[in-house]
Amino acid sequence: MNLHIRSESILHEIHRYKISIKKVDTEAAQTKTIEWKNGTVVTVDQTKLPHKLVFLKLKDCREVASAIKEMKIRGAPLIGVAAGYGLALTAHHSKALNKKELMKQLQVSTDILRNTRPTGANLFWAVDRILKRTRETSGSVEAVKRAVVGEAWKIAEEDARINKKIGENGARLIQNGDSILTHCNAGALATVEYGTALGMIRTAWAQKKKIQVYATETRPRLQGARLTTYELKREGIPVTLVADDAVGYLMSRCLVNKVVVGADRIVRDAVINKIGTYTIAVLAHEHGVPFYVAAPTSSFDLTQVSEDVVIEERNMDEVTHFGSERIAPNGVRALNPAFDVTPLKYVSSIVCEKGVLKVDEFQRLANQVTARGE
Ligand code: MRU
Repeated sequence: MNLHIRSESILHEIHRYKISIKKVDTEAAQTKTIEWKNGTVVTVDQTKLPHKLVFLKLKDCREVASAIKEMKIRGAPLIGVAAGYGLALTAHHSKALNKKELMKQLQVSTDILRNTRPTGANLFWAVDRILKRTRETSGSVEAVKRAVVGEAWKIAEEDARINKKIGENGARLIQNGDSILTHCNAGALATVEYGTALGMIRTAWAQKKKIQVYATETRPRLQGARLTTYELKREGIPVTLVADDAVGYLMSRCLVNKVVVGADRIVRDAVINKIGTYTIAVLAHEHGVPFYVAAPTSSFDLTQVSEDVVIEERNMDEVTHFGSERIAPNGVRALNPAFDVTPLKYVSSIVCEKGVLKVDEFQRLANQVTARGE
C-alpha cells in the first residue's frame, strides 16, 4: 500500500487504506473530520486514534457537548464547527410550535455548549454567529430551523476553505530544506479538513519542498504523539517524534529552523495555545528560530487581553496517570492547565486566511476593531 500519496484530505487517505484491508462502510467513506448527515453529526473519536478509527454518530446537543468535554472532538476550529452542529441538532429535531419556544431551546443548548471548554475562541464565536442568524430570521419556526442548520453547515464549509487559504499563505514562509517543529495537533483532525499549522506544512510538501517535521509528544493528552505523527505519516511527510522536554536540545543543536503552531485564541497581546507552547516560543526566541502561529480569524478575539482569558484546568488524573496507568504515588496532587499564554513579542508572524500578519499589523487590526467598538 502506498502511504506516500498526498491527497487533499487525511480522511480520504484513511478511506483508501481501509478499502484495501476491509469492506468499506459509510463512515469510512467520510472525507472530513466532521459531517452533518441526515440529522446526525458524524465525527472521528479522537481518543481512539491512532490505533482505531472510530466514528461517532451524535444525535443531540448533549452528546456533542460530552464529546467536546471528553476531547473525542478537539482542536479549537473543530470544536467551533461541532458546537454549531450541536445547535443544528437542537433545531432540526425540535418540536417547538413557534420561534419563541425554539429560541428557548437553543438558549439551553448554547449554555450546555458554552460550559464544555472555556479557552478556545471558536466555540463562542460559532454559537454567537448562529444565535445572531436566528434573531435576524423572520417567518415560521421551520424557517428558523432551516436557518440554524444552514448557518452551521456554512461555518463547516468555510472552515475547510479557510484552512486551504492558510496553507497557501503560510507555505510561503517554508523553504526547501526546512526542519519544522510543531506542537500539539493543528491538523486535519483539529479542523474540518486540511488543518492550520499542518495545512502550511501540507501545502509546502505539495509544492515539492523537501522538509522534515519534529512533532512534540504534547503531554498529557499526547495529541502530537498520537495525532500529528499519524496525519503526517499518512501523507508521507517525514516526521520525527520528540519528548516535550527535548525542544531545547533540538534548538541548541540547530536541528530545527522554524516553529509552526496553531492557536486556541489570539487576543490583543498574546497567543493562547496548548500548554507547552510558551516554553517553545521562549526557546525559539533565545535561539533565533522564527515562531509562526497559524489560525483562522475565527480564533481571533480582539476585544480581550490575555488576563481576561479563562485557562481550562483539566482533571489531575491526566497528569498522575499515563493512559489508564497511575504513574505518580497515590495521593500526589497534580496541576493540569490545558493551555498557556505566549506574549506577542515571541511571535514572528500570524498566518490567517487574510495573509501573513506581522505582529504590528495584527495589533493595528486589533486597534481598529477596538476603535470601532466591535
Ligand atoms: O486541547 P486540544 O487538543 O483541543 O488543544 C488543541 C490545540 O491547542 C491546538 O493547537 C489548537 O486548537 C489549534 S488547532 C487548529
